[in-house]
Amino acid sequence: LNRAIVSTCLTLLALAAHAAGDPESGKTKAAACATCHGEDGKSPMAIYPKLAGQNEPYLAYALKTYRANQRKGSQASLMTAIAVVLSDQDIDDLAAYYAGLKP
Ligand code: HEC
Repeated sequence: LNRAIVSTCLTLLALAAHAAGDPESGKTKAAACATCHGEDGKSPMAIYPKLAGQNEPYLAYALKTYRANQRKGSQASLMTAIAVVLSDQDIDDLAAYYAGLKP
């Protein structure tokens, strides 16, 4: 293997690591979600979906579609209002946090 290839691979690895959500930081950000989705992603009320243990890409996808106001659902506009302030990194962190919780 030549050096250029090795260094390209390391750069790509670093990028991939950076793109991944950080569950610790997601936990802090999730304080804003607990009122509805529950302290540990297990919402006490049926109208609020349980987030604990859901698939990480699914959670990120759901938040991005709410943010883009592309999700249809009786309460979707409510989540859109919450998701518009989230950055891509916020979304990845939140998805990593909730995906790591026991359902
Ligand atoms: C005021 C209550 C409320 C708050 C606060 C809230 N949500 Fe929601 N959330 C809802 C409701 C209601 C739905 C169902 C919306 C629908 O009809 O699509 C929902 C849906 C979702 C979904 C889709 C779940 C699924 O199974 O498809 C995700 C993901 C989500 N919320 C994440 C979050 C995150 C992350 C936060 C904090 C940044 C948050 N929510 C804050 C009420 C809330």
